[in-house]
Amino acid sequence: MIASEPNTSADRPAPPHTIAPPATQHRRGPRGLAEDTSPGSPGQALAPRRRRSRLALWLRRGIERLFIRPKVEAFYRVLGGYTFFQLLHAAVELDLFTLLSQRGPMTHGQIAEALGLEDRATRVLLLGCTVLGLIKLRRGRYRNSLVAARHLSRDSGTNIISMVEWQHAINYRPMFHLADALRANRNEGLAAIEGPGSTLFAKLANHPKLETIFHRAMDEQSDNLARSFVEQLDFAGYRRVADVGGGNGAYLIEIARANPHLQGVVVDLPSVCELAAENIRSSGLADRLGTSPGDCFANELPRDVDCFLFAHFLTLWSEARNQQLLRDAYDALPEGGSVVIYNIMQEDSRSGPLSCAIGSTYFLAIATGESLLWTWQEYCDWLTRAGFHKIVRRRLLRDHGVIIATK
Ligand SMILES: C[S@@+](CC[C@H](N)C(=O)[O-])C[C@H]1O[C@@H](n2cnc3c(N)ncnc32)[C@H](O)[C@@H]1O
Repeated sequence: MIASEPNTSADRPAPPHTIAPPATQHRRGPRGLAEDTSPGSPGQALAPRRRRSRLALWLRRGIERLFIRPKVEAFYRVLGGYTFFQLLHAAVELDLFTLLSQRGPMTHGQIAEALGLEDRATRVLLLGCTVLGLIKLRRGRYRNSLVAARHLSRDSGTNIISMVEWQHAINYRPMFHLADALRANRNEGLAAIEGPGSTLFAKLANHPKLETIFHRAMDEQSDNLARSFVEQLDFAGYRRVADVGGGNGAYLIEIARANPHLQGVVVDLPSVCELAAENIRSSGLADRLGTSPGDCFANELPRDVDCFLFAHFLTLWSEARNQQLLRDAYDALPEGGSVVIYNIMQEDSRSGPLSCAIGSTYFLAIATGESLLWTWQEYCDWLTRAGFHKIVRRRLLRDHGVIIATK
C-alpha cells in the first residue's frame, strides 16, 4: 500500500513505501519510483545503503521480468493447463471468437450482453482469454488475435472448433489416468469411457453422440490438411493408389482431382467406407475411385495398385504390426511401386516437436494403447527391413513429413 502522509520528523527516514508530498521536486528513480530531492528533504538524506538496496531491487525486478518470468509463466501454463484448456473450450462453446469476428472490437459490457453473461463471469472469461493471447485488449475494446480469427471463429474456413470439442468431450477425462497408462504401458484412459472395447474406436461404437464428435474432428482435420498435402506431393507418376485407413476419402478425392488420369481405392473399416463411398459419389469421382471395406490386418491388401498411401495410420499401431503391414505392401506392389507415409514425424533426437508429445500421449493413454508418433528413422528402418531400396524423406508444413519408399 502507498501512504501519502508527509513525514513529521526530518531525521526519521521515510518508510520504504512512502512517496513524497506534492509540493516537492521529483525525479524518476529506478522503476519510476519518485525520489524527493528538495534541499534538506528526507529524500536527500537517504542513506547510501538504502539507495543501493533500491537499485539492487530494481535490478532484480528487471532480471526477473526479462529472464525468469517467461520461464515461470511457461511452467504456469503447464500447471494451469487444465484451467486454460477449459477456458478455451468455454470461449469456443460460448462462441466468443465468432462474435468478435462478426462484430469487430467490443467493450466488456457489449460482450457480456451479447453472450448473456453476468459482469463478473465476463471479466473472468476475458481475463483468461487475454492472458492466453487468444484475444487482445486495446483502448477498452477486445478483438480476436490472429490465431483466434483463423482457427476459433466459426466464420473461418480453417477453424479447428471440432478439434476443441473432441478434446473436451472425449480426451479430457481419459487423460486423467495417464499415470496408470504409463505404468501399464497401455490405454488405461479408456476406463473413463463406459462400455466394451480395447481401442477408442471400439469404445465410441457404444456412444453415437461421441462418435459423431470424433468423426467431425477427423473430417475437419483431413479437410484442413488434404489440400495442402496434395499441393506438396506429386502423384502424377502413379496409376492407381490405395489409401489404407483412408477415412472419409478426403485425401484420395484431392489426389484424384489433381491427377485426372489416376484411379484409387479407400481401404478402411466397413462403416467408414460407407462414409467414403458417399463422399466419392458426391464429388463426382465414382468412375475412378472406390472402396475396399475390411480390416487391413485380417484381409489382403489390394494387389492392383502401384502406390500405398498411409496417412495418419501407422501411428495407430505397434512396431510389429507396422512392420508386417509394410512387408505386405512390399509384396503387393509391382517393381517401381511406392509406399507413401504421411504423418506428424517425431525428430530422430526424440526431443520434439511439441505436437508429437501431445499425440504420443494420446496414442498411449487413449486411442490404441500400442503406439506413439514414431520417428523418421523408425519408419525408414521398417521400410528397409521390408525390402524397399530407395527411401526419401521430406519435411512438410505443420510438423508433418512424408517418406516415399520405392520397390
Ligand atoms: C486417424 S484416421 C486417419 C484417416 C485419414 N487417413 C487421415 O489422414 O485423415 C485412422 C483411420 O484408420 C481406420 N482404421 C482403423 N483400424 C483399421 C483397420 N484395422 N483396417 C483399416 N482401417 C482401419 C479408421 O477407421 C480411420 O479412418
